[in-house]
Amino acid sequence: MRKVIIIYFSQTGNTKKLSTKIYEILKEKGLEVSLFELESKERRNFFRNCIDAIKGKIYYIEKMPSIENYEIVFIGSPVWAGKITPLVRSLIKESNFQNKKVFPFITYGSGLGRIRALKEFEKLIIEKGGEIIGELDVKGKKIDENLPKIKEEIEKCLKKL
Ligand SMILES: Cc1cc2nc3c(=O)[nH]c(=O)nc-3n(C[C@H](O)[C@H](O)[C@H](O)COP(=O)(O)O)c2cc1C
Repeated sequence: MRKVIIIYFSQTGNTKKLSTKIYEILKEKGLEVSLFELESKERRNFFRNCIDAIKGKIYYIEKMPSIENYEIVFIGSPVWAGKITPLVRSLIKESNFQNKKVFPFITYGSGLGRIRALKEFEKLIIEKGGEIIGELDVKGKKIDENLPKIKEEIEKCLKKL
């Protein structure tokens, strides 16, 4: 059976909600799925979070997920200042995605910089040897409304495998 891990960071719950939806969809499709939340002791205010995201800061990850045993890796991040979050960037930098099929996804607020963030996300994964098999961007407050789109994108990617 194909083994999938969904790794995400979520500060206010939107990316966690989307990750849980993806988990349920993949389970329904009969895949063996694990869900992993990235945690950090870093606590910063809005502006500092934006600055760290823009500067491409790397944070210490308290507990690293072990992706070696998984063929497919979903990674989720909120958009911060048109970038992915420092913790998700740190995860990618610390990981080896050789022979991994990777599906990045983001949640956003206004939508400003979301395409840029997704492109950056993909570039970092490819640099670490990963093969992009799909992508998803969903407005953080509109996850339920976007359920058909979420299912469609996942089905599209599973068909390609
Ligand atoms: C520090 C910070 C910066 C943000 N920057 C952006 C941005 O540039 N573009 C955007 O569309 N949303 C931005 N947002 C909104 C978040 O991306 C959005 O609320 C997201 O769904 C939050 O995910 P979470 O609930 O999993 O933490 C920002 C939020 C924070 C806290």
